[in-house]
Amino acid sequence: MQKLKNQAASLIADSVKKLWSFDELDTSELASMLEYPPDETMGDLAFPCFKLSRSLRAAPPKIAAAIAENISTDAFSEINAVGGYLNFKISPASLEDILKEVEEKGDKYGASDIGNRKTVVLDYSSPNISKPFHIGHLGTTVIGHSLKLLHEFAGYKCVGINHLGDWGTQNGKQIVAFKRWGDREKVEREGIDALVELYVKFHEEAEKDPSLNDAARAEFKKLEEHDPENIALWKWFVDVSFKEYEVTYKQLGISFDSYNGESFYSDKMPAQVEKMKELGLLKLDDGASIIDLSEYNMPPCLILKSDGTTLYPTRDIAAAVYRNNTYDFDKCIYVTSSGQSLHFAQWFKVVELMGYDFYDKLIHVPYGTVSIGGAKLATRSGNVVLLKDLFRQSVEKVREIMDEKNPDLENRDEVSEAVGVGAIVFNYLFNSRIKDINFTLESALSFEGNTGPYAQYTYARTCSILERSGDLPSGGKLTSPEEGEVLRTLAKFPERVSAAIEEYEPSNITRYIIDLCTAFNRFYHNCPILQAEDDDVKAIRLRITAAVNNVLGTALHLICMKTPNKI
Ligand code: ARG
Repeated sequence: MQKLKNQAASLIADSVKKLWSFDELDTSELASMLEYPPDETMGDLAFPCFKLSRSLRAAPPKIAAAIAENISTDAFSEINAVGGYLNFKISPASLEDILKEVEEKGDKYGASDIGNRKTVVLDYSSPNISKPFHIGHLGTTVIGHSLKLLHEFAGYKCVGINHLGDWGTQNGKQIVAFKRWGDREKVEREGIDALVELYVKFHEEAEKDPSLNDAARAEFKKLEEHDPENIALWKWFVDVSFKEYEVTYKQLGISFDSYNGESFYSDKMPAQVEKMKELGLLKLDDGASIIDLSEYNMPPCLILKSDGTTLYPTRDIAAAVYRNNTYDFDKCIYVTSSGQSLHFAQWFKVVELMGYDFYDKLIHVPYGTVSIGGAKLATRSGNVVLLKDLFRQSVEKVREIMDEKNPDLENRDEVSEAVGVGAIVFNYLFNSRIKDINFTLESALSFEGNTGPYAQYTYARTCSILERSGDLPSGGKLTSPEEGEVLRTLAKFPERVSAAIEEYEPSNITRYIIDLCTAFNRFYHNCPILQAEDDDVKAIRLRITAAVNNVLGTALHLICMKTPNKI
């Protein structure tokens, strides 16, 4: 739509110049002032004339009326003044241009090179070893990966990092629990579930016997000092946990460029702590080393515990310095729950106080909480819903629906996994990320409404039409308003991609997918495609179907969704 907005803007600038001899208008600013009218019968683009009123010394309705009378163009079939607005209706020729552009650009439609190969580091997913991978991690995993795909689409070079929580007191707790109550064979057999069980037991026992916490700190200290037994146990816990995460990542089609977790920075922290000392930033507080941030209205940032072991912020600071040196990033994005906002604000400030000039390239992208209602989910220890259980139940439900609705479908396992997992992802990414959300499996799985299955089903519908049609024709003629609506929606894709990147908000894409599906399905129900009345009408309708297939496929992939051809 940007091209049409630019065209409208230069028409406005030209007539203002002609009518008022005023040539101080900036066309790109005018273009950004164009709006989408709430009611499409009013037009496809609307320009509010209120801001011009002062410079032109005229009332907005007068300005609108005068401009409307003065311009004519092929790009717009109607230009009307309504109150203080100037409304533009896109001409059939421009609608055809949109279709041609989508066809020419193919799967690059919506892509750009604004990133100019600059590097963006994205730190996301990052579960904590030996702890459950629960629904709280859904947000960081899918928002993070979607932001990575969006940045790549915009021409950035991206490095996706899984900053595994593999270093910290929790590892000490795990070691204590295993040494006291663990059974090697059970862990080998049951994997992470057995580790989580031990972790939960540790907490139960520590309530009764707080000295266990001291034991855990001592084990972690030994780990930091490279005690061979603890290192071996820790490595094993990491492997066992990771095996399980991989299953979830594979279901989501996600992989990372680096799995350097917190432990990777254990030898990189002393230099940073030393620098803090030299700069006089560290203060002793009850034996612990902290950085006072009261001047910035924040509680102090904890750097070292009283026993000298490091903390979460210490590792994040060392990691940021390492990443800056290694990747020379233009942005380093961290996706975590909003519960960690203070943590990030604190250590970003410390990085600034340490004199690192990259402090303003660090970006925290927070998201709200998610809870699941309705369907009873098997919960394990600690009353948390594991992501794998949620996915499994969703996939099973889809499988039941499929067995009933489409018993002859091939690749049933693959398709039910794509739809079952996709339903959860779509439902999650439909909301703006900062909102706390609650969803039910039933609503996520509905084939009607704003759901993943609805979007994937629409995609499969376009595939089936194209498969039946054979070779794609060229030419053709536009005849119905529903066709225009699909084309106008296609024209909006690039700006929705830009908004998603600027706002770090994948829901722009999810919502766009629903807009496109709605426009396409209206078109599909009202306009016969394969049975169209003549070859010209059929040709343009098939081309529109192919364009929707292309853009819908791209958009779904940008939000980590798979696109089966048949459902
Ligand atoms: N492991 C942390 C958690 O599960 C998230 C890590 C986020 N990334 C970071 N660099 N702090 O809460």
